[in-house]
Amino acid sequence: MSAAAQMEAELTRTLQACGVIPVVVLEDVSVAVDLAHALQRGGLATIELTLRTPDAEQAIRNLAAVPDLLVGAGTVTTVDQVDLAVAAGARFLVTPGWSDQVVERSRQHGMPIYPGIATATELQHALESGLRAVKVFPASALGGPATLRAYASTYPDMRFIPTGGISEAELVDYLAVPSVLAVGGSWLTPADALASHDWAAITAAASRAAAVAGARDLKDAR
Ligand code: 3PG
Repeated sequence: MSAAAQMEAELTRTLQACGVIPVVVLEDVSVAVDLAHALQRGGLATIELTLRTPDAEQAIRNLAAVPDLLVGAGTVTTVDQVDLAVAAGARFLVTPGWSDQVVERSRQHGMPIYPGIATATELQHALESGLRAVKVFPASALGGPATLRAYASTYPDMRFIPTGGISEAELVDYLAVPSVLAVGGSWLTPADALASHDWAAITAAASRAAAVAGARDLKDAR
């Protein structure tokens, strides 16, 4: 196994063990580390920091320096953003939709990537491109766990990170799908809690999610 493949396999194991990926839109970079600590106190040690705000690159740099935190870059839509996220210290990349150029560039960096797919055609393309795990976006609008089960039965070797419109209450249903590697969502870090520095609320949400993910039976997981 190549070093890149080994890194990807290890990352996949980490994401599966975590089960939940907080998707963060951070307006105020100065709270990045406080936010990370709030999530860690709740038992979640992964963050997908989206490249949707002006200081997202600096936020990734700050988060990359936090011990025992796995930080990825989300909403990666261009090759320049791949370069930027890698330079900032992201350990994985997530995209909302498929882009051959973005996938290729991340491979040139040896950087694991979870591109977003929404259709069986895109899933097929991902498979043919050598990927074994993708983000499914927007999971809720696409039909939720039922759609994932349908994809899983036709593409048993593919694993999914559903994201988009998922609520805390639905987490358990998504995690019950054996092909789901982890569930992504912004419900853990709502804008109002970030703006008011309500770390206790974020820790509480993280700890409830970590408990649900921790109770998942991984024996059937693919
Ligand atoms: C994403 O980038 O994956 C989504 O915006 C997250 O979806 P959510 O905000 O509906 O959880």
